Amino acid sequence: MIETRPIHNLALIGFMGAGKSSVGHAVADRLRFDFLDTDELIESQAGKSITELFAAAGELAFRERERQVVQQLGQRTRTVIATGGGLPANAQNLADLQAHSLVVYLWASPEMLWERVRFQAHRPMLHDPDPLARIRALLTARDPFYRQADVLVNTERRSVIEVAQHVISQFRLAVSDQR
Ligand code: S3P
Repeated sequence: MIETRPIHNLALIGFMGAGKSSVGHAVADRLRFDFLDTDELIESQAGKSITELFAAAGELAFRERERQVVQQLGQRTRTVIATGGGLPANAQNLADLQAHSLVVYLWASPEMLWERVRFQAHRPMLHDPDPLARIRALLTARDPFYRQADVLVNTERRSVIEVAQHVISQFRLAVSDQR
């Protein structure tokens, strides 16, 4: 991959349960980068949890907050950015991330994603009578966006550390191609 754009950061995108936070922490530790989670930033700026934000103002208002947070990231350097699962399903968000980050898509099958999130209750997008069908539908809609990432990493049957090591080697390659 020949990269001519600046790559100061690493952004992890992918569906809920893809491992963006756990892989992101492992990558940040090893690269000695800062770690930033867009959901956490939204929660701290709003003073509310994601669940409360969805309940109070709905998904659209949450997406506007995501947009604002992405616009705040342009000055970051040496940061691993874990994004909310729906954030890249906005072409402008993706373009803004790609202006400073290597964007890595952490992929897993719908069944594996459901397996990883089924005992967690904090994701309003999955509050549905048939969560697996919801995952499939959302993934189908979002996959074309996710696939615009610079790198796709299959996380299925790989440990967090294995995925992190793979992400790091892709990042090093991309940064060395810049020189
Ligand atoms: C969402 C994913 C969540 C969070 C919000 C909406 C989505 O982030 O941003 O609940 O639409 O996929 P994670 O992917 O970190 O769970």
